[in-house]
Amino acid sequence: VDIPANPGAGDDWHVDGVVVAALELLARGRAEDALRTLQAATGEGRLRRELAEHLTARGEGRVYDDPAAFQEFIAGGGNVALYEATIELLAGEYAAAGSVLDLGCGDARAVVAAAASLDAGAPVLDLVEPSDALLAQASENARSAGLVARTHRATAQEFLRDAAGKWDLVQSTFALHSIPPGERAGVLTALRRVASRVLIVEFDVPAFADGGPEHLAYLAQRYELGLAEYPDGPVAQGFLMPVLVGQVDRARPRLTWEQPAAAWAGQLREAGWDHAAVRPLADYWWAPAVAITGS
Ligand SMILES: C[S@@+](CC[C@H](N)C(=O)[O-])C[C@H]1O[C@@H](n2cnc3c(N)ncnc32)[C@H](O)[C@@H]1O
Repeated sequence: VDIPANPGAGDDWHVDGVVVAALELLARGRAEDALRTLQAATGEGRLRRELAEHLTARGEGRVYDDPAAFQEFIAGGGNVALYEATIELLAGEYAAAGSVLDLGCGDARAVVAAAASLDAGAPVLDLVEPSDALLAQASENARSAGLVARTHRATAQEFLRDAAGKWDLVQSTFALHSIPPGERAGVLTALRRVASRVLIVEFDVPAFADGGPEHLAYLAQRYELGLAEYPDGPVAQGFLMPVLVGQVDRARPRLTWEQPAAAWAGQLREAGWDHAAVRPLADYWWAPAVAITGS
């Protein structure tokens, strides 16, 4: 199958056919056969091992409710450079924004660092996040940085249903992919009621037929690279494996619905946003990160 080259990976990558076979079985709802395939395979492979351990444990896959592994993930590996680039991008946007609404803020480390870098010019923040644990940390991070921030425990969909305010900028970094495709147009349209400018940071993932051979090969190749950035600790089992398996196994919670950057820009235009544009942000093991804006 034809999968795009990964500029960050050099020559040191491959696709493990055993992993692809297991993912294909998962996509067909045959989780036990997938596990047997991984266990029966000869030869080594980190992704095979982690995937087999995850399928054996049958965890709930709710990675943001108890977010220690997620937070270790974003504090390490390629996320260090990715978050630095994100903070710089956000700080540039905030220079012209007195108020910012952040949807799916997580622990708000990027929004807080960017706002705090503007000192007295920092925008007033509204932080929206469905995870209690992450929202509590967002609140604490904003407070200790001396920022004015209101916090809202809600999904983007819930918050926008009742939102009466108006913000200079509405943003979402690596979070709008959590919204199922059928609900996305409604969210992007509702954003126009609350803000005059939108900034979405996401990954520019190729357009794949869900569960098709290119998709599965891409997953196998990229997750091997992602795992290599976290040689030990909770990231593999507590974050990367649930996110991977959720993309193929319909019996498990799906956490991401990703798409090419051009599709995000097209959806902004369809929702009535003008000047929709895509800018490159950073290379990353999963896919290039991009900023998508509209006004
Ligand atoms: C990958 S994290 C990104 C967090 C943060 N924006 C950042 O850049 O570090 C995805 C976040 O989206 C949140 N989320 C999940 N479903 C959501 C929804 N429907 N609306 C808003 N946020 C959601 C998760 O709880 C999680 O905090």
